[in-house]
Formats: sequence, C-alpha cells, structure tokens
Amino acid sequence: MLVRMSDESPLAILTSGGDAPGMNAAIRAMAVVAASRGVPVVGVEDGYTGLLEGRLRPLTFPDPDGTLGVDPELDFLSTVGGTVLGSARELRFLTAQGRAPAVRTMAGLRGLVVVGGNGSLAGAHALAAECDVPIIGMPASIDHDVGCTGTSIGVDSALNSIVSACDSISDTARAHRRAFVIEVMGRDSGYLAMAAAVAAGAEAVLFREQGRDEEAIVRSLERAIRRAFAKRHKRRVLILKAEGVAIPCTRLVRAVQDRLGDDFGVDVRATVLGHLVRGGRPSFADRMVAGRLGLAAVGAVLSGQSDQMVAWQGIVPGGTPTPDSAVTLFSLADVLEQSHALIDGTSPITQRRVKMMEKFEGVLGL
Ligand code: F6P
Repeated sequence: MLVRMSDESPLAILTSGGDAPGMNAAIRAMAVVAASRGVPVVGVEDGYTGLLEGRLRPLTFPDPDGTLGVDPELDFLSTVGGTVLGSARELRFLTAQGRAPAVRTMAGLRGLVVVGGNGSLAGAHALAAECDVPIIGMPASIDHDVGCTGTSIGVDSALNSIVSACDSISDTARAHRRAFVIEVMGRDSGYLAMAAAVAAGAEAVLFREQGRDEEAIVRSLERAIRRAFAKRHKRRVLILKAEGVAIPCTRLVRAVQDRLGDDFGVDVRATVLGHLVRGGRPSFADRMVAGRLGLAAVGAVLSGQSDQMVAWQGIVPGGTPTPDSAVTLFSLADVLEQSHALIDGTSPITQRRVKMMEKFEGVLGL
C-alpha cells in the first residue's frame, strides 16, 4: 500500500512488547539513516502507550553546519540491551476506540516504524488501516515466532545468553553428577529451547508444540536421565524446557525425582533463566540485522510503503525485494497469518522443527 507523506513532519520510531537485545541498535540505525536524508526523527516513549498520549522525544537535532545530527547517547546505547525508548504491552490498543488517540498523533508524523513481536505488529497492522501515514513493522522478539522472517532482532543474543548459562550450569552439574532442567522463555514458541538444546548438547528438550501430557513428559525425562547416567563417564544431564510447557519446574523436578527413586543417587535440579536472557548486550548478528533492517525500514517509509514488515532472509515465497538482497518487504497481514501458523503448529516450518527435535532427542548429549 502506498500512502501520502508530509515533508516537514518527523519519522517516528516505536518499540513495543517484550524488549529484545538489538532494539537500540535498530533505533540508532534508523535515526542515522533518516538524518542523513534530512528527515527529523522522534522516538515514541513506552510503545503504544506513548503514541496514545502523544509522548514523542526528538532523536535528531539541527547541527551548526545545517545538517541533522543524531542524539549522541544513541551511539553508546546501541551497544546495550533493552530499549532506550521504553516499551509496554498496551491493552487499549486492542480496540479501534482505544486506538483513536494514536490516530490523532499519527497525523503529525511522516511515518512510523514499529519494532516488536507479533502483538506489536498486529497493532501496527490495525493502525495502518485507520490512518494514511506510512507504517512499517520490524521483527524484534527473542521468541522467534514472527512469520515470514528468517530471524527477529534479539533471537541470536538470547540464544548466546542461554548457551552461556547452560555452560555455567554444566560446570556445577558435572561437579556433583546432577541433572538440571533449565527453563527458557518462549510463551508460544519452543524455538529457544530447541535451538539451545542442540547448541548446549542437552539430553532432552521439552516444548509445547510436542503436545505431550504431564505423564509422558515425566516418563521421557526419567528415561533420558536413566539412559545418560547409565554411562560411566556421564557427569551431567541437561534438559531444556520451554516456558510454554505449563508444568512448573519445581513440580516437574519433584515428579522425576520420585520416579527415579532415592537409591538412584542423582539429584535433579531446576533453574528458570527467565528475563536474564532477554537483557544483555546484543550480539554481532543482532546488531548487523538491526542495522540492515533499519536501513530498509527507513527506505520503505520514505518511499511511501505502508502496512508492511521488513523481513530478514524471508522464509516464505513472495514479498517485495529491497535494495538489500537479504531484506524483503512482506505485508503485515501475511506476516501475522504466518505467525499464527507457526504458533498453532499448522506451519510446515514448525512441523519440521518438531520432527527434527524428535530425531535429535536422546542422541544430543551422549
Ligand atoms: O517477549 C516475549 C516473551 O519473552 C515471552 O517469551 C515471555 O512469555 C514474555 O515475553 C514475558 O513478558 P513479560 O516480561 O511482559 O512478562
């Protein structure tokens, strides 16, 4: 969709939903690119909440030489996690009536880039239908559950943090010959648990998409632990569990320990990594993807594209190419449909992942 633009108004950047390492790098990249084209940039504070309340903060300033300069803080902040603009999960954005004040704020903007996960992109899609200012989405969520894109900003950093935590836990687990269940974020998607299990050499992985009930899960863990510790050299067992598996770690560990029995002689412990892996320094890959998606997003807004998302190495056919061969524009409607399929398991991508993990399980850590 192509829409009208006003030349004097600023381009706005908004980060929304769960923050992800690399969001700040994306903000900086977009501010620099827009400023280099003479377009002023504002940051929207606290996601859609700030858009509803008209809270905009300048990120570019006129320089003495007549060009636009970028807030110097962004240079430093682009190397840290979180989001300098703040983020929120804004329930008012779920209805047209609730979004109405945001439509009024949009009237003063040249365009908007929304950086976030599926909830944020759904908000961008709804808003795009209600105003004639260009809106572009950028995928950022550690969960890796955004459709059409090969990755989202934050996934790589989160995985690096998880693997590093698994290595540390392995050190102490080996010292005591223990088994650890390590829970990682991923409310709707087990991707972080699956990918980290492979990289960390885990013995088993649990994720919602497997569709196992509690009894099957406890049985599978008992089997994995017995099999691993039957080998003399084995000193640690790691089990990666996605947050989406709705059994609390403490209950799971108790049930497995009961099955193993006191005479088995191995302690089973649990660690919930939680928000530890959503923060932290963005990795090289996340900063690079953020920079290139940022460049493409500003280009898309300034050329009047709207209701689209910049995708990194698109994983479905279609989309519109951009000057960067790794970046494709997909309509937000398509993205959201694909996201839905990834989460509800009807996507062939999810089905492939589940099959692959079934093959890997039991041989990963041996
Ligand atoms: O960003 C997505 C996510 O990381 C989910 O995996 C997790 O369930 C959720 O955020 C937690 O969000 P909050 O910090 O708002 O509780």
